[in-house]
Amino acid sequence: MSAIGRGVAEVYRRFGEVDAAGTSPLHKRVAVALSESDAALQAIEAVPARKRHPTIILAALHDLVLAGRAPALAAAYEAADGDAAARAAIDTLVQMTESVVAIAVRRRARPNETGRCAVLHPAIAEAARRAGANAVGLIDVGCSAGLNLNVDRVGITYSNGQSLGDPSSAVQQSSSLVGERPIPARGMPEVVARIGVDRDPIDVTNEDDARWLRACLPPDQPERAARLRAEMALAATDPPLLLRGDVVEVLPDAFARVPASALPVVTTTWALSQLALESRLRFLRRLEEAAAHRVVAWVSVEGVGVAPEVPTLGDRRASGHSIIGLAVSEESALCAEAVGRCWSRGRFLAWLADS
Ligand SMILES: C[S@@+](CC[C@H](N)C(=O)[O-])C[C@H]1O[C@@H](n2cnc3c(N)ncnc32)[C@H](O)[C@@H]1O
Repeated sequence: MSAIGRGVAEVYRRFGEVDAAGTSPLHKRVAVALSESDAALQAIEAVPARKRHPTIILAALHDLVLAGRAPALAAAYEAADGDAAARAAIDTLVQMTESVVAIAVRRRARPNETGRCAVLHPAIAEAARRAGANAVGLIDVGCSAGLNLNVDRVGITYSNGQSLGDPSSAVQQSSSLVGERPIPARGMPEVVARIGVDRDPIDVTNEDDARWLRACLPPDQPERAARLRAEMALAATDPPLLLRGDVVEVLPDAFARVPASALPVVTTTWALSQLALESRLRFLRRLEEAAAHRVVAWVSVEGVGVAPEVPTLGDRRASGHSIIGLAVSEESALCAEAVGRCWSRGRFLAWLADS
């Protein structure tokens, strides 16, 4: 085996034994099996180096399953049979190398992006309150499939008994509050525009895109898959406008599409870390340029120290939790405040601001 093959084998073995171990028995078994198969490793080497990571190759195999193109692997996944899945994954990879390469080249790994609304809703509502706005236009930057733009259409319950959003929605989310302070009780005003900005957005109304999003979840996590399907179905009932491109280029167009009567609220959730610092500062400059003409707001949910200008509250960078930032422009100046912390992508939330 070549040195490259040994390196790939080690990455797959570690992925199986460490990353997938606690979450997906099937992916654990399959990743380790791929790491031990010369034929599978050879097939993986046909994929460009930056796309060889197990998250992409396992998602590509899952995509073939969901598309009905890998029946033996589908049956093994359905039966949760790790040994059969290992054998079928190797066979599929070897026999359908070209298809796997084509999917891997075209796609990026997508994080599970459901469930952010419990954090976003109170922060957007607070932005609207501070700006005295009766309507908002949402602009989600790094939107991926735009599920954050469902924020007013899902029901949210908090561990202290508070609730926000639509209690009759098919999508219900929850969050445990940390600390004594409640979230602001007021919901958000009417949403009159939903705009997603991404250099590679996922269109939930497009069959291939929607399948890829599902494929990025492991095959043995039915609850997460059901949650994702429900959020995608909700988004598809009134799909957002997706603007493709670099945020720094596209943001002015996004602002222009929010009616003058509404407050544009830009949201970023775990997106800015993908931008170099220089791009993050240019993003901030775009917000300030828009603020020269109208009141604008920005809600950020990013790792400590990632969102420029958002205070870190003295927390250590890379400490695992995230800071919820809120900025509402005043006479073209944008002053960001930290209004909360959250953990586990919003499953736990500490609200800090007076409201
Ligand atoms: C880690 S994902 C976050 C997705 C989602 N906001 C969430 O909460 O899971 C980052 C997203 O930002 C997008 N992205 C990265 N750099 C970008 C840029 N310069 N302009 C626009 N979108 C960008 C990526 O395509 C990706 O969809």
